[in-house]
Amino acid sequence: MRTSQPQTIYLNEYKVPAYLVDHVDLRFELFENGARVHSTMTVRRNPECVQSKAPLELDGDSLKLESVSLDGLPLDAEAYDDQGDKLVVPNVPAQFELNVVTWIEPQNNTRLEGLYKSSGMFCTQCEAEGFRSITYYPDRPDVMAMFRTRIEADKAAYPILLSNGNPVEQGELAGDRHFVTWEDPFPKPAYLFALVAGDLVEKKDTFTTCSGRAIDLRMYVEPRNAEKCDFAMDSLKRAMRWDEEVYGREYDLDIFMIVAVDDFNMGAMENKGLNIFNSSCVLASQNTATDASFQRIEAIVAHEYFHNWSGNRVTCRDWFQLSLKEGFTVFRDAQFSADMGSPTVKRIEDVTLLRTAQFAEDAGPMAHPVRPASYMEISNFYTLTIYEKGAEVVRMINHLLGDDLFRKGSDLYFERHDGQAVTTDDFVRAMEDASGRDLSQFRLWYEQAGTPVVTVADHYDEDRGVYRLDICQSVPDTPGQTGKKPQHIPFALGLLSRAGEPLPLNLSAAEQDGPQERVLELTESEQSFEFHGLSERPVPSLLRNFSAPVRVQYPWSRDQLLFLMSHDPDGFNRWDAGQRLAVDVIQSLIGAPEGAEVEPRLVGAYRNLLSDVSLDQALVAKMLLLPSEAYLVELSEQADVPAIYAARQKVLTHLAESLRDDLVGCYQRSRAEGEYQLTPQAIALRSLRNTALAWLLHIKDEQGLAFALEQYRSADNMTDRLGALRALVNSDFADEREQALRAFYEQYSDDPQVVELWFSVQASSYQAGQLPQIQTLLDHPAFDWKNPNKVRSVVGAFAGQNLAAFHKADGSGYQFLADQVCRLDDSNPQIAARLISPLTRWKKFAPHYGQQMKAALECVRGKSELSPDVYEVVLKSLSD
Ligand code: PHE
Ligand code: ZN
Repeated sequence: MRTSQPQTIYLNEYKVPAYLVDHVDLRFELFENGARVHSTMTVRRNPECVQSKAPLELDGDSLKLESVSLDGLPLDAEAYDDQGDKLVVPNVPAQFELNVVTWIEPQNNTRLEGLYKSSGMFCTQCEAEGFRSITYYPDRPDVMAMFRTRIEADKAAYPILLSNGNPVEQGELAGDRHFVTWEDPFPKPAYLFALVAGDLVEKKDTFTTCSGRAIDLRMYVEPRNAEKCDFAMDSLKRAMRWDEEVYGREYDLDIFMIVAVDDFNMGAMENKGLNIFNSSCVLASQNTATDASFQRIEAIVAHEYFHNWSGNRVTCRDWFQLSLKEGFTVFRDAQFSADMGSPTVKRIEDVTLLRTAQFAEDAGPMAHPVRPASYMEISNFYTLTIYEKGAEVVRMINHLLGDDLFRKGSDLYFERHDGQAVTTDDFVRAMEDASGRDLSQFRLWYEQAGTPVVTVADHYDEDRGVYRLDICQSVPDTPGQTGKKPQHIPFALGLLSRAGEPLPLNLSAAEQDGPQERVLELTESEQSFEFHGLSERPVPSLLRNFSAPVRVQYPWSRDQLLFLMSHDPDGFNRWDAGQRLAVDVIQSLIGAPEGAEVEPRLVGAYRNLLSDVSLDQALVAKMLLLPSEAYLVELSEQADVPAIYAARQKVLTHLAESLRDDLVGCYQRSRAEGEYQLTPQAIALRSLRNTALAWLLHIKDEQGLAFALEQYRSADNMTDRLGALRALVNSDFADEREQALRAFYEQYSDDPQVVELWFSVQASSYQAGQLPQIQTLLDHPAFDWKNPNKVRSVVGAFAGQNLAAFHKADGSGYQFLADQVCRLDDSNPQIAARLISPLTRWKKFAPHYGQQMKAALECVRGKSELSPDVYEVVLKSLSD
């Protein structure tokens, strides 16, 4: 455990490192009862550091120090200070070699940080500060060294020994042991170090780069997963090609490796040349992975690969700059996914996540800027704001500069900073220098937390034929930040005639054939824009394709929304109009009397979607999904979850009953014929069909039940099988539900990823995931507290997706979550701190609920020996 009290770290206290490491030579002796790590560092004083007499300070965590020597001479215990979390060596020369030997116990490491064991193999996770639990080292990203790594282990148990770079030597050792030595020619921060030792099968492929170099591609997985690698390998090759074509980035080493591990705190990690993946984010087959998992795998494989340039070749100066690599890389992987599939669908999915979860974060106690100014525990800052909002910020730069200048900017950034550890400011400066644009006000996107609110009012002057938009913007206060300045917002819009035709946007009376879409640049708190030459009052299509991560307020009428739903040329805005309409209808029913009418025009709009086969089916599949409870909570002031749930259910029931025959027709028609394919069309058809099925079962339709049972039986892919299971689980057909759940588990009990799906289908279902049932899942033999995926698929799904079961009036859901967080905090604080997040927004809920959520947080605060991770979240959530 950590020895020191959690401290706040501030960006404005950044100091360059006093010492730099040029080379580090590591030797790992791996045993069943522990590992000995020998580290030899070539150290020199940093010429940029003014303090020339500074002692050498190395970071450490949970290490047993065995010896220290300087320039080959062992140091006495008096010659250094082993403080546990720091090893301090005073009076060192300007240049020297330091050798440190530590003993660690990977087999007992449940935090999954540093070196640990997962299903019998050794693996590492060093970002952000895991390397310090392997050996004493200046564990900060602005210290970049060349690594040479020798791994020694039992040959039979660990035939495969991997690290970063290229293998340069291998051989036999006494006692049936062997070794492999790896050398990474690119200097890197310690957080990109990786090591893997295990009994793994190797899948090989090759990729020829744009300059004609042949790269060895390898995947290493447990033997039982040998058949689940093809899709990831194919995604990798497509990502490599794409990065050459779109960003001009060629791969640099001769070998690129991917390893799958079952126990992993996050999705995957971009270690140089040796990416390590959570099994659920890389392994897939038609029969075990859903369309959503395939798409996630494609995106994450690309994301980690893209980090090789945006993150590894150019890395972060300090962890406040985390979004430098994450925001940019998420933007890059989103562009890639859009190019591989349907751009509109991808945009809808990203915006849904952003508006549901990032906006919530930005309005809660953990709100922080894309470039935070302070933190206590960096692990808590791998957030939606750093990743998703960070990606939106890069996307806006792209939008403001246009594709060509943006590419010039990224080329300049990579060229200028190759091999360096830099800041988000350096990124923006490269964009400015390449484009000649001034982004000084734009930089506020990195500095100010909170989601800007853009309020639009419109006026039409019939006599002059002028339509005017008055646009105000403001950024709400967030913890520690008030009185914010207006930001630079690219606001894309179009105007439609009553007949549904796009109108020219003429910004003056002199202009004639203005473009049908414009990007207004909002820079002040209040601005007006006039559009000339309009013979009728237009319908505005605002913030097209979600051109900025803001909340737009405009008094849309239901007629306008219905109109936009079918006429907006911007697919995203068509979807968005449908969402706004559904939100409006659901909100109007919250707490309404029993017999309150559901807007009949909503039924008509959905009937259109279900029956008009000329529409883009991928878009239709998205438009049919009602806004989630989480989004409705995010939009409300004092959320009463049971009331929100009831209103949403009421709309769903009404729609399904009114459209029963259309749903049957849609189900029968939307069959993806032939072989299983992952095209946007085929994915859309499966999604449509599964939505129709879910709606039919929601109203306990017998025909729907027959469809579900037959689909379950005959499915040739996991999307359809799970779709049928989910529909049954969420229905009132209790016997069929139990039967299907039993059959599914029996069939897939030996596949951990499918078992995770099985857990989460139940835990996220109101019908199957009430608290007593959640308890039963926790007692299930396949549940494992040490495995983050299992914890997420039960506890995370319950608290994060099964809102009406979690927010019970008696507070039982909150207390349950608090108990699980306390239990996990001892073994895996990072996961515990993530799990607690549903409680942090207690102020958002109606007082009866909010007070009990707060009480649950106080319970967690009362636990003895709370980790810094959970401590920070609880402290911030409870402070005013
Ligand atoms: N850097 C990883 C990514 O690609 C995420 C990660 C962070 C993984 C910390 C593990 C630990 O986004
Ligand atoms: Zn990343």
